[in-house]
Amino acid sequence: MHMKVSPQAASCGAIVSGLDLARDLSPDLVAEIRDVWLRHQVLAFPDQDMSLEDLEIFAETVGNFGVDPFFDSVPGHPHVAQVRRQADETSPIFAETWHSDWSFLEHPPRATVLYGNVIPPVGGDTLFANQYAAWEALPVANRERLQGLQGIHSARLGYARDGLYGERDTGRSMAIRYSDDALATQLHPIARVHPETGRTALFINPGYTIGIHGMDNAEAARLLQELFAHQTRGEFVYRHRWSSGMLLMWDNRCLLHAATGGYDGHARLLHRITVAEQGG
Ligand code: SIN
Repeated sequence: MHMKVSPQAASCGAIVSGLDLARDLSPDLVAEIRDVWLRHQVLAFPDQDMSLEDLEIFAETVGNFGVDPFFDSVPGHPHVAQVRRQADETSPIFAETWHSDWSFLEHPPRATVLYGNVIPPVGGDTLFANQYAAWEALPVANRERLQGLQGIHSARLGYARDGLYGERDTGRSMAIRYSDDALATQLHPIARVHPETGRTALFINPGYTIGIHGMDNAEAARLLQELFAHQTRGEFVYRHRWSSGMLLMWDNRCLLHAATGGYDGHARLLHRITVAEQGG
């Protein structure tokens, strides 16, 4: 089959058509997809008819299965989670804050694969922000200041007992499980070199970065707020519109993403696999 790559009119993102991912995954094609992915950071493959097993096979071409610390998995599929919302649900939209998946882990995931099963007719787009571009757009003096600094990452704002998805979060159909483990912290360089491309990306995010190592809290909060505003500026953002049967793969090492609402009264269901950095 012939793979057609259509880069989007944005800082990242490409639509890849002409493939049947449930059948075509030869080693040559996998290498080609990986190359295109590293160039565009987020790839969308429309019109795929994939079972959960197909999804698992595809994800394993990207790397080893990663962990999902605060989700229950789909029975029989320990690496697959559901991102779901029922038509009558009123709890806050899941993952509406800009983030890089599980950046609070010691080894944050390489990639996320998300497959759209039920897509609402309006709303529910996913936003992506290119963090190579965000880094490169910073003035030289700011980049020099940030080199060597480490962000403090934690899941506490979302997944701790008192977090957004904690004990007060009732009526949610998605299987999120809060835990005291969310209070742990992990350091990562703010200027992080991508292990495959060698390019530097800004690696902080409003969802999980709660401070800067060795910096006074108030000063760190000021600096982080400035950087959060910078890294999600419109010029770095690609707005992804879903269709059902579309598979998306994105690179957590150089992108932030955020879910959006706007589909009250409609259901939305996607299946998600996190791909580890290690060993893949
Ligand atoms: C996610 O962050 O995994 C979910 C994105 C979305 O629901 O659009």
